[in-house]
Formats: sequence, C-alpha cells, structure tokens
Amino acid sequence: MAIEVGLRRLTLADLDRLAALEGCQPRHWSRGQLEAALLDSECRVWGAELGERLVGHAVIARLPYAAELQAMLVAPDMRRRGLAARLLEAVVEQSRQWGSERLLLEVRAGNVPAIALYRRAGFGEDGRRRGYYPPLEEAADAHREDAVLMSRRP
Ligand SMILES: CC(C)(COP(=O)(O)OP(=O)(O)OC[C@H]1O[C@@H](n2cnc3c(N)ncnc32)[C@H](O)[C@@H]1OP(=O)(O)O)[C@@H](O)C(=O)NCCC(=O)NCCS
Repeated sequence: MAIEVGLRRLTLADLDRLAALEGCQPRHWSRGQLEAALLDSECRVWGAELGERLVGHAVIARLPYAAELQAMLVAPDMRRRGLAARLLEAVVEQSRQWGSERLLLEVRAGNVPAIALYRRAGFGEDGRRRGYYPPLEEAADAHREDAVLMSRRP
C-alpha cells in the first residue's frame, strides 16, 4: 500500500533519529559517519518522515563529475510502500541540481530488493568488484560478497 510521507533535507538536529534508524541493519554507518555526512557541504542526507517518525533516509555525495548514492534505508515495517522510490527521486533531482553527469552507486550482489529498486529506477549495471564487501554475518562459512556498480544519467 502506497503511503504519503514528507521528504526533506536532514540536519544535525535529526542525528539521533537518523542514527537510530540506521542502526536497525547490520554493518550500518556509525553515528560519527552520519554526523560527518550531515556536516559535509558536498553531501546531502534526505529523510522521509511519517508525522514525527523518520522512516527512511538516503545519503548522496557530490564528486567532481558525478554524484554517488552512498546509503539508502527504509524502516523494515515501512517497506514496499514506495518510500525508497520517492527518496530516489529526491536523490536524482539533487544530482541534477549539482549538474552531475552520472549518478553512481554500489550495492551487494546479494541485495535483491535494492538491485530490483535501482533497475526499476533506470540504473544499469556497469561492472563488479569481486569480493569487495565483508560478510554480513560472522558465521564460519560466511564469505565476502561482490559489489555491483550501477549508474544512470540524472
Ligand atoms: C532496498 C530498500 C531501500 C527498498 O525500500 P522500499 O521502500 O521497500 O522500496 P519501494 O517500496 O520504494 O520499492 C520500489 C520498487 O523496488 C523493487 N523492490 C523493492 N523491494 C523489493 C523486494 N523486497 N523484492 C523485490 N523487489 C523489490 C520493486 O520493483 C518495488 O516496486 P513494487 O513494490 O511496485 O514492486 C529497503 O528494502 C531497505 O531499506 N533495505 C535495507 C537497506 C539496503 O539494502 N539499502 C540499499 C543499500 S545499496
């Protein structure tokens, strides 16, 4: 079921809620990394809010000729309602405003939901970095995962 959320650029005042949301997944960004992104003039952190609740975020960075989507998360109980698709629209618009030639991202090869999301939003696969990501879990048989490099024109 689609849902109406508000989208806005997050600031340092949102750090507590942002760190709490990010903390719901393994291998998440630390509070310090999120704080640095909020303070970096070459970064934007977009948030999706349902009333007072922060339910999703996306981090985008400005590079010399491109922009990079560095993080994207929707709260587990709010998934499949179009929130990430809306956040991606804000990210694309941001990269347009920066005049970026490409919008880049990297995603774990096993992240089926995210890859489906990005393909649907017009991203194509450019290549892979073999064994780029450490395992998500510490299990003895856990192995490193490839990164899929994707991009689209803003
Ligand atoms: C990936 C993620 C951000 C998607 O968020 P979401 O709000 O559920 O995505 P949306 O509802 O906007 O989905 C848009 C489209 O993406 C695709 N998609 C999203 N989740 C999917 C899933 N679990 N399986 C298959 N396709 C999926 C579908 O095409 C979907 O459209 P549909 O629902 O009409 O079929 C969310 O699952 C998440 O936070 N995952 C953990 C963090 C993560 O992996 N971030 C990406 C790191 S690169």
